[in-house]
Amino acid sequence: MKAIDIRNKYLNFFKSKGHSIIPSSPLIPENDPSVLFNTAGMQPLVPYLLGQKHPSGTRLTDYQKCVRTNDIDEVGDNRHLTYFEMLGNWSLGDYFKEESIAMSYEFLTKELEIPNEKLSVTCFAGDEDCKRDDVAYEAWKKVGIPEERIYFFGKDDNWWIAGEEGPCGPDTEMFYDTGKPKCSDKCNPSCDCGKYVEIWNNVFMEFYKDKNGYSKLQQKNVDTGLGLERMAMLLQGKETPFEIELFSPVMEELEKLQKVDNIQSRRIVAEHLRSSMMIINDGGRPSNVDRGYILRRLLRRMTRHLNKLEIDLTKLPEIIDISINSLKELYPELDSNREEIKKVIIDEKDKFVKTLQNGEREFEKVANRTKNSGKNTIDTEAVFNLYETYGFPPEMTEELAKEQNLKVDMSDYKRLFKEHQDKSRLGSDQKFKGGLASTGEIEIKYHTATHLLNAALKVILGEHVHQKGSNITAERMRFDFSHGAKMTDEEKQKTEDLVNEWIKSGLDVTVQEMPKEDAVKSGAECMFIEKYPDIVTVYSIGEVSKELCGGPHVKNTKELGHFKIKKEEASSAGVRRIKAILE
Ligand code: SER
Repeated sequence: MKAIDIRNKYLNFFKSKGHSIIPSSPLIPENDPSVLFNTAGMQPLVPYLLGQKHPSGTRLTDYQKCVRTNDIDEVGDNRHLTYFEMLGNWSLGDYFKEESIAMSYEFLTKELEIPNEKLSVTCFAGDEDCKRDDVAYEAWKKVGIPEERIYFFGKDDNWWIAGEEGPCGPDTEMFYDTGKPKCSDKCNPSCDCGKYVEIWNNVFMEFYKDKNGYSKLQQKNVDTGLGLERMAMLLQGKETPFEIELFSPVMEELEKLQKVDNIQSRRIVAEHLRSSMMIINDGGRPSNVDRGYILRRLLRRMTRHLNKLEIDLTKLPEIIDISINSLKELYPELDSNREEIKKVIIDEKDKFVKTLQNGEREFEKVANRTKNSGKNTIDTEAVFNLYETYGFPPEMTEELAKEQNLKVDMSDYKRLFKEHQDKSRLGSDQKFKGGLASTGEIEIKYHTATHLLNAALKVILGEHVHQKGSNITAERMRFDFSHGAKMTDEEKQKTEDLVNEWIKSGLDVTVQEMPKEDAVKSGAECMFIEKYPDIVTVYSIGEVSKELCGGPHVKNTKELGHFKIKKEEASSAGVRRIKAILE
């Protein structure tokens, strides 16, 4: 059965049981700044689980687009996905355990025609917070699941909460037996050998957890979630989601285009491409913070694996088309936004390629240096430097080294990495601000001017402007920033005027220390969030600018004199460069 048929059957089945079909919320939560993406169907419904009246009633059903990035590095194995679709049905203080279980069983066995023998279920075993779920147990027996296929587990397996606080409760989970042999006598649904695959989770949400422990909610809710891709995989008798119709065309195309065979890389490309498209479609754009940074990571990892497969990157538009074509039945919006999605992905790919090219040039130098000194191993510091300065991942260095019969010394890499993360704020921030090696009075002035320029560009050109680099000498400042087009004379003039207005109004420069997360949340600007230590310094200039930075800066903008833009030019794809002076 195709994914679209499973989705339609699901929504229609629950509609026939009195549920209103509600639309999927966008991946990017509308009213919840605490999470980056919707990670579960219940997330947009939290206010209603807590008691607010839902305009569509007390029985709801939908499909929800979800992104979970905690195990991004696992993608490439045979099951992890960063994007997935969750089918769900909810009772908001309406039906509870028995009816919910009866409906799930009917849907699985009648609509999807899964034989009873294939199903095992788990229920909550009970503890000091909540008693054993005998109601669920009896309900399963009543619909025909024999005792020996009903298991009890504790909070680790059979309790559900999104994060640390919120509505929660015991759950009952349904498992599909793939028919593989048991891995041991003890093999049961909580084992992840692959015999049992979890297909559906019904949470009986009657509790609320906060710092003080558990309390009862004012109503008893049911929250269920069924993973669409996984169900399609099982019903189609496939071993991995990458073999179902949502992925197989793109997987086949990659296999056709590749020069080096690597199934993990093909999966990573197919998976990250889909997640990225869904995020872009819901308004996400690559950047260096929050969800933008996750999108950037997905797209860069995808590009790296396309390289690993030695696929010609000019084929990317065709790969995107194939992926959209296999997804458009489920998500017609991908088809309507096809060109925009392509543009965002290809722009980001181009930027990354540029980084990689710079890294490769530096790598050649390192390789030659190593050979010239009669060694056959590139030392840890060089490997690390390639990562730190050029964003060149160590696997890539290793791969290139191999081609030149060189080895890489990774023995100390972890230590260097950690040291780098822990490095004093001043040191690391200065390094990455660039060009501040000698910080005389004039350099300090230029440094403050880069912050003002960054802020002014955001006002004049838009919020998409972010710093991409800077370099300061005693004679001038250079500032690179994201912007897709040449600045007009008017834009340049306005920017210059705004900076000078701020300078003249004598704004105080203040500094604060705070946890990195708080800094990001407060909207402080920064380049590479992962490069900062956990506690950061944030420099503010009056109300106009706020940036993570190690300083140093002037105390008041009056000290800067007059700011003048000398030149505006392209730096790389989507990145412009301004050279300016203080006079
Ligand atoms: N909230 C539960 C889950 O995400 C059931 O929908 O598994």
